Amino acid sequence: MGEHLNVRISSTGMALPGKRLTNMTLEKMVDTSDDWIVSRTGIKERRILDEQWSASDLAVVSAREALDNADLKPHEIDLIIVATATPDHLVPATACIVQSKLNAFGCPAFDINAGCSGFVYGLVIGQQFIENCTYKNILVIGVDILSRITNWEDRSTCVLFGDGAGAVVLQPSNDAKGVLSVSLMADGEGAEHLMVPAGGSYMPANENTVKNKLHFVKMNGNEVFKFAVNIVVETINILLNKSGLSIDQLHLLFLHQANHRIIEAARKKLNISPHKLPVNIERFGNMSAASIPVLLHENVREGHIERGDLIAMVAFGAGLTCGGVLLEW
Ligand SMILES: CC(C)(COP(=O)(O)OP(=O)(O)OC[C@H]1O[C@@H](n2cnc3c(N)ncnc32)[C@H](O)[C@@H]1OP(=O)(O)O)[C@@H](O)C(=O)NCCC(=O)NCCS
Repeated sequence: MGEHLNVRISSTGMALPGKRLTNMTLEKMVDTSDDWIVSRTGIKERRILDEQWSASDLAVVSAREALDNADLKPHEIDLIIVATATPDHLVPATACIVQSKLNAFGCPAFDINAGCSGFVYGLVIGQQFIENCTYKNILVIGVDILSRITNWEDRSTCVLFGDGAGAVVLQPSNDAKGVLSVSLMADGEGAEHLMVPAGGSYMPANENTVKNKLHFVKMNGNEVFKFAVNIVVETINILLNKSGLSIDQLHLLFLHQANHRIIEAARKKLNISPHKLPVNIERFGNMSAASIPVLLHENVREGHIERGDLIAMVAFGAGLTCGGVLLEW
């Protein structure tokens, strides 16, 4: 048997644009109302990145905070994983641009695209490299600038999204047990329910794709909603079973912030109390891959998580995908 290390999240960081877009402003842009948005989604406002900045810029700010909090210098990073569905460019990976802006020369860097589940996918990938002793200091960033791929004339999607970035440093753990169980899944049959149709090799950009707004997110909200509630409950049960724990032992459960009604429906099925499910969707909307690391960072910063606490994170999104991690902090 080879050596096997425990893996913990040793620090967190986040970055949010300063510009707020409220429901009141959206009322002037599309046929919607504050009432509809709040009652159907729980969202009151979201952040929008100014056009001179891009995903890598926000990612770098969140990464610097996570590195500072871990007392780590950029040259000490062994691997950079960026989870994003809104990379700076199709090629090269945003992780390489982040590496350059951080001056973390030489370490491997790559992107993963698992939609809103991307950060959790990234955590699980990073965990493997530490567990098998390949790397020690791994930066995992979830960043999405969904405002750039949002059709601002489509009321069924444009009210939902916001921009943001969150980062963590993964390291071997000497004391806490760290990651206890993980679960990743994908259902490619549902790919069509949440996609950006054009701009890839299937439908390269041309005048028609631009005219027909095929570079924006197209979503079948009801299908995603049904998938989300079921897969969240299933994933949490898998995580608990694998680690031999019961749901009452969880200190906090971080769910992807896509819709307050999804969180509420999953919570009721799991029969756990609302104070165990932190929520920030009212302030930030759905930040895709940034949703979970931002929520985690806020809770760490506010002192809601202590060494030894059991926490779980579950995200779902385009793919369709779902990912979960249960760990001892
Ligand atoms: C998108 C979502 C909020 C829509 O809520 P919903 O309760 O399912 O609403 P429906 O799509 O059934 O639409 C109900 C009505 O509201 C209307 N509507 C949609 N968006 C609206 C808006 N922003 N303002 C006012 N009315 C709106 C619809 O046109 C529809 O009208 P109709 O009955 O006259 O056809 C919901 O399906 C959802 O959150 N799904 C999951 C999406 C998600 O999380 N995606 C990201 C995953 S990572």
